[in-house]
Amino acid sequence: MIKLILFFSLFANLCLFILLNKKKIKNFFYKKNITTVSIEFIHPIFKHKIINSETKFPLDLHVSKMILVHDKDYNVKGLITDYETWILSLMSKISPNIFEFGTCSGKTTYIMALNSPPQAKIKTITLNESQASKLVMSKGENKIAFKNIKNESSYNQFMFSNTDCENKIEISYENSIDLNIENLKNKYDLIFIDGGHTYSIIKNDSEKALQMVKKNGYIFWHDYIPGKTSTKDVYKYLNYLSKKIKIFHIKDTNMCFYKKD
Ligand SMILES: C[S@@+](CC[C@H](N)C(=O)[O-])C[C@H]1O[C@@H](n2cnc3c(N)ncnc32)[C@H](O)[C@@H]1O
Repeated sequence: MIKLILFFSLFANLCLFILLNKKKIKNFFYKKNITTVSIEFIHPIFKHKIINSETKFPLDLHVSKMILVHDKDYNVKGLITDYETWILSLMSKISPNIFEFGTCSGKTTYIMALNSPPQAKIKTITLNESQASKLVMSKGENKIAFKNIKNESSYNQFMFSNTDCENKIEISYENSIDLNIENLKNKYDLIFIDGGHTYSIIKNDSEKALQMVKKNGYIFWHDYIPGKTSTKDVYKYLNYLSKKIKIFHIKDTNMCFYKKD
């Protein structure tokens, strides 16, 4: 009997330990190849006012236009966090030409339009319901990522629809695999990749973005998450790509970035 109690208490402690250290355990098993940096490393726009050795305050430059989309209540798909949204909003301030892979509800498109310079142009591509329904999964693709593409391609109205900044945005319903980039090369200051999360799509979008980004321009990827099944190909591909080009993971986010020298 004592042995049984001992066994159960050991088992309960083990479960509790796993629960409390889920993130650390995942990070241990899914080794990150990519160095994590704080936001100050991305661009001088993120530099803070130093108050003392422990405290930083934001600068006026850090004020941005934000929207709070309460994920539980609003039932909007594909959302990025508020901190990630704010990082994109500051990057938009210094980016007159922006390209986005994956519009979904248009939340990130709207944020980039709200914060970019007045003459800025934003092109965003996405799939509509009918295009997504015709997609055929190739052998070996991630089933959950594929299912998510279908699920997230359901919008024909966007958060930026009928707003003052809608005229900055060009939305195109097209499969990024078929995107012709001949006239888009070296054009963009900022590219945000958050489209399909299967290996073939993340590879296609990244390879195209690397040609589309300008000198000194930036590419940001979403969903670099160790151990999450639906985004495992983003993690795998970025780890692979980071051996060829300098990619950094941004602390406290699921985002990575690359700056073209
Ligand atoms: C995660 S959501 C984007 C979320 C959005 N960036 C936001 O934060 O508000 C993914 C989007 O990528 C689009 N998408 C998936 N695969 C695509 C492909 N091959 N070509 C174009 N768009 C694609 C989907 O239609 C969906 O709108």
